[in-house]
Amino acid sequence: MDDDIMDYEEEKRDRSPSPIRFESNSKLKGKGKVIDQPEIAPPTDDNLPWVEKYRPKTFNELVSHKVIISTIEKFIEEHRLPHLLFYGPSGTGKTSTILACAQKLYGPKWKSMIMEMNASDTRGIDTVREEIKTFASTRKIFSSGFKLIILDEADAMTQQAQNALRRIIEKYTQNVRFCIICNYVSKIIPAIQSRCTRFRFSPLELDQIETRLNFIIDAENVNITQEGKNALMKLSGGDMRKALNILQSCHAAYERIDENAVYNCTGNPEPQSIKDIVEAMSGNEFTAAYSMMMKIKTEKGIALQDIIMDIYKYLESYQLPADVRIYLLDNLANIDYRLAKGGTEKFQVSALLGTFKNALELVQQN
Ligand SMILES: Nc1ncnc2c1ncn2[C@@H]1O[C@H](COP(=O)(O)OP(=O)(O)OP(=O)(O)O)[C@@H](O)[C@H]1O
Ligand SMILES: [Mg+2]
Repeated sequence: MDDDIMDYEEEKRDRSPSPIRFESNSKLKGKGKVIDQPEIAPPTDDNLPWVEKYRPKTFNELVSHKVIISTIEKFIEEHRLPHLLFYGPSGTGKTSTILACAQKLYGPKWKSMIMEMNASDTRGIDTVREEIKTFASTRKIFSSGFKLIILDEADAMTQQAQNALRRIIEKYTQNVRFCIICNYVSKIIPAIQSRCTRFRFSPLELDQIETRLNFIIDAENVNITQEGKNALMKLSGGDMRKALNILQSCHAAYERIDENAVYNCTGNPEPQSIKDIVEAMSGNEFTAAYSMMMKIKTEKGIALQDIIMDIYKYLESYQLPADVRIYLLDNLANIDYRLAKGGTEKFQVSALLGTFKNALELVQQN
């Protein structure tokens, strides 16, 4: 693990407005007395979460978005890096890409050349402006012409702050390049979007996730079956961070990771349970289906909302007349909404069963 990246991540944590702070001091002050705390071991590669331990440090290690990476490499070679706007879902490599970019641009001293700000920071835009001014004006220590400011979670910024930012971007373009990162690009005002070159980070393809997983499975000596790996990739939904976190917790909990281990570890219903539930609901009479559903729910400790999400995915692969599909989806959405608003699970199980019974009648009328 690159020490610089670890330091960088630590500093980032220190600056983050998290309510939990880790004191490096071995003594904590209580009311009038000093309490001895056990010394916290400094982080080593082995006790780092795998997402950090295996954070790509170079462009080559990034397994996806080759077009984006080659475009940025070209910008760097030609010394004409524009302001960047990275957007896309979590765990797709946005932060990793810009950090690899900084290391390529500035080499070993990259940390002093970048400033990372979190837009959900509560300090106002005026403080941010001051910080950027100080950072941008220390020109003499660098040679490549500009420094890099990474503005993460920019979609949490207010319209007003974004408007102030567009002036800042213009004013400091000579000394600074901005990399604005967010999940939802639609929340970024057009004026900022037009000042940046936009790159969309799509969810990773299964084979890309598999390539990276295989590398880590080998490096960590993980005992996992192909079915286990497939389940893990399916659950990740293209989020590499999620895939690595599931892999690490399964590795800690199981000697051998198979499909069941993955579903148990994440608390997701197994595909077989979902199949059983759908079959019971579309075949058995009401009471039998109800008891079976409640049994699976209690025995496996699965929430109805998770079951509904999986039924929805299961129905995707099912041949159904259009009106029946619409009826089912509409009702599943309503049940999901009622559960989110605090509706009682028992009533919603009945509603789900009723929905399937009605859908069955619709199928027969078709
Ligand atoms: N393209 C990739 N290649 C290899 N590893 C990746 C890739 N994308 C993500 N990862 C892994 O997932 C972790 C999280 O990625 P990263 O922090 O770059 O995601 P992000 O897109 O910034 O997500 P968020 O929007 O939640 O901030 C990395 O530490 C790395 O281990
Ligand atoms: Mg990120």
